[in-house]
Amino acid sequence: MTTSPDSFSIYYHQQTKYTPEGIARSAKPLDWESQPYPFKKYPVGTAIDLIPYLLQAETLTEDPVVLEERKRISKLLYLSYGVTAVVPYPDHPFYMRAAPSAGGLYPAEIYLVSRGTQGFPEGLYNYQVKDHSLIRFWDSPVWDKFLATCFLHPYLRQATLALVTTTLFDRSRWRYQDRAYRRVYLDTGHLLGNIELAGTLMGFHAGLLGGFYDDGLADLLYLDIEEEAPSAVVALLENPEGERPEWEGSLVLPSEKCIDYPEVEAGALLRFMHNHSKIGQSPRVSQPAATEQDKYNFPFCLKVSTEAEPIIWQDKLEATIIQRRSTRQFTGEDLTIRELQQILSFTYLPTKYDSQGFDPSPEYFDLSLLETFVAVTGVIGIDEGCYYYAPQARELRQIRFKNFRREINYLCLGQDLGRDAGAVIFHTADLKKAVDRYGERAYRYLHMDAGHLGQRINLAAIRLDLGVSGIAGFFDDQVNEVLGIPEDEAVLYITTLGRPSRRGGT
Ligand SMILES: Cc1cc2nc3c(=O)[nH]c(=O)nc-3n(C[C@H](O)[C@H](O)[C@H](O)COP(=O)(O)O)c2cc1C
Repeated sequence: MTTSPDSFSIYYHQQTKYTPEGIARSAKPLDWESQPYPFKKYPVGTAIDLIPYLLQAETLTEDPVVLEERKRISKLLYLSYGVTAVVPYPDHPFYMRAAPSAGGLYPAEIYLVSRGTQGFPEGLYNYQVKDHSLIRFWDSPVWDKFLATCFLHPYLRQATLALVTTTLFDRSRWRYQDRAYRRVYLDTGHLLGNIELAGTLMGFHAGLLGGFYDDGLADLLYLDIEEEAPSAVVALLENPEGERPEWEGSLVLPSEKCIDYPEVEAGALLRFMHNHSKIGQSPRVSQPAATEQDKYNFPFCLKVSTEAEPIIWQDKLEATIIQRRSTRQFTGEDLTIRELQQILSFTYLPTKYDSQGFDPSPEYFDLSLLETFVAVTGVIGIDEGCYYYAPQARELRQIRFKNFRREINYLCLGQDLGRDAGAVIFHTADLKKAVDRYGERAYRYLHMDAGHLGQRINLAAIRLDLGVSGIAGFFDDQVNEVLGIPEDEAVLYITTLGRPSRRGGT
């Protein structure tokens, strides 16, 4: 394996690739005794129980403004990351949440920052997932400092409430070692997808910020900087008419690029990667994001239109989020072309869903950096093979003709989901280009955007009564080689789609 002089992100990505030889060498049993507890506890603070606002709001006799505000925040948090199923293991129950998480490790936390509203007096709150409550652990003025750590972002000048997502690396590193850095940001992307979608249900536009003074924001939230780090800020913008707030230029901020780095040992890669993707007190300005264009065209290839009637949601978004589970087993039966087309349309063409009350322009960090490839192994109406998905032209362009079932099973580390899926979606990016635009911070943005797209894919599939599961463990280089995905495209994430086996779970 070569190390690249280009940037630390590229080096980190190479060092954390799974290879058939490496995985055999590094496989060791998990030490269940040392697994970090996935819930944060606060010894001091005032709790606001959000359950009544979720379940019995009509019986509450509070001031109507307070009631309405707490109802909205209660539901927003529940649909984003609340407990949607409990597996009653004898020694300790396993709490499953509205957003999926690699290995069910849930490294994310959510904080609410309030400028001071009737329902939420100014201060800092942590969302206690298990109890569905908010604990107000800081009750002094905080908004001005918050605004400063986010470089006076215009969204926060407008908003009165904002969410901050953070990540506790050890919850995921315990199992995935250095490669956990990829997974925690994919997880966070899924969570951001839920916040975005649940936000529209509650009349908020999720104004997304990824550029902030990392250590300043961690300090503001009283995080232990060795354990926990802010990952994204979401301004909750009142947006009932679907209008976007006014702002100028690109607000996706870069960090420095790290081209001069030592050889970092296994075990220290995650921390080094994180520290070198931080933004300090004075941010650099980024180039404006490129307009999204279809990157690959192959003049004589087979092309398949992905135009389809939109999915009819009929107010089922909330139920879909609550019912969503990662499918544990597919039957191996085919999907239909219409199902795949509809999943792609919901994921990539949000304007088509405007009339159904969805946000027509959900925010990502920079989708122009992400590409999508689809391996079709069983879709009635589409030839088998690997395709590039061109969202602007709304078509699949075939790059290789073959049924890859057996290979995908192997590439996904022998997981049956890969073998029995009808279609497998790959999100990729040119890391060099991404780092040139956003410094090492690009690595976070790419994984969060891929997770966010993944969450839309998940929910569309569940709405269509299909099975779906993310896969973040795969033999990186072999995916490109076998499927014919250009080698500049680093594979970030895989989402499998198929018919769910009702015996093997959802
Ligand atoms: C980033 C990410 C990676 C995942 N990777 C895998 C995987 O490799 N194999 C798998 O079976 N499930 C995978 N999953 C699904 C998780 O195991 C699942 O989300 C978790 O067990 C919680 O269950 P739920 O999604 O049904 O709520 C992944 C999920 C995410 C978000």
